[in-house]
Amino acid sequence: MDIENLFSVKDKVAVVTGGSRGIGRMIAEGLVRSGAKVYISSRKAQVCEQVAEELSALGFCVALPADLSTVEGVQDLAQAVKAREDQVDILVNNAGATWGAPLLEYPDEAWDKVLATNLKAVFSLTTELMPLLKKSARSDDPARVINIGSVDGIRVPETENYAYSASKAAVHMLTRQLAHRLASSHITVNAIAPGPFPSKMMAFILDAEGGEDMVSSGVPLARIGTPEDVAGTVLYLSSRAGSYVTGSIIAVDGGISTHG
Ligand SMILES: NC(=O)c1ccc[n+]([C@@H]2O[C@H](COP(=O)([O-])OP(=O)(O)OC[C@H]3O[C@@H](n4cnc5c(N)ncnc54)[C@H](OP(=O)(O)O)[C@@H]3O)[C@@H](O)[C@H]2O)c1
Repeated sequence: MDIENLFSVKDKVAVVTGGSRGIGRMIAEGLVRSGAKVYISSRKAQVCEQVAEELSALGFCVALPADLSTVEGVQDLAQAVKAREDQVDILVNNAGATWGAPLLEYPDEAWDKVLATNLKAVFSLTTELMPLLKKSARSDDPARVINIGSVDGIRVPETENYAYSASKAAVHMLTRQLAHRLASSHITVNAIAPGPFPSKMMAFILDAEGGEDMVSSGVPLARIGTPEDVAGTVLYLSSRAGSYVTGSIIAVDGGISTHG
């Protein structure tokens, strides 16, 4: 057993959507620090470039800004990747948006925005990049697709985020169906279902006075997630160590999903 390289992703080509902040940035940093060639994407071009520049101090990182809530944005990102690389070893579909509102005020536009970004883009970017994933795919080292779902797609959340939690449950099922269909092409597809991590999406709760303690008190492991927690899971799924795992929804949630 080559124990030294069991978790290695050195020189692999990775695309991380929503890599400019929050969980996506944590994942991108973990991959860059491990020697992968990492492309990050997000809508705000200037922020994306700035973060890529910061991560470049640790290794290889390039910004490819795109709005993934549109068909054109997904195609532009795929084209930009194809212009630079012949193959993609790791695709992390992380970009996401949420929308909270009371039941009877929940707007129609929330469904359009959230489903387009969180669900449709996961499917369409994966299919757009399929030729590059297939070039990387080998029986002893499959290409990897990692979708970022949520514990909110597993159990009913505290907040009223109807389109969001439904989109994440759908991402989990999409992950399983893609895993089933793509296994014979030597492409694994797994999802990570995070619990609470510090990010802009969670700032409305975590930045409020006593917010972090309140959130932590609902987590069996009694803390919020750290960059190591999510980057470690991505490194596992992306390396030799995770190459026999497909169709799994891995809760990285401090045990929240054990509440049922
Ligand atoms: N934080 C948590 O506790 C938590 C828990 C469970 C699951 N998650 C999931 O983890 C993922 C990352 O969330 P986060 O908390 O890190 O959120 P975040 O801080 O809001 O970051 C979201 C990222 O996605 C990008 N993005 C948003 N809309 C986009 C679009 N239409 N096209 C391209 N990029 C877009 C954002 O950049 P721009 O705004 O510049 O586009 C940003 O880079 C999401 O899928 C989220 O649902 C988070």
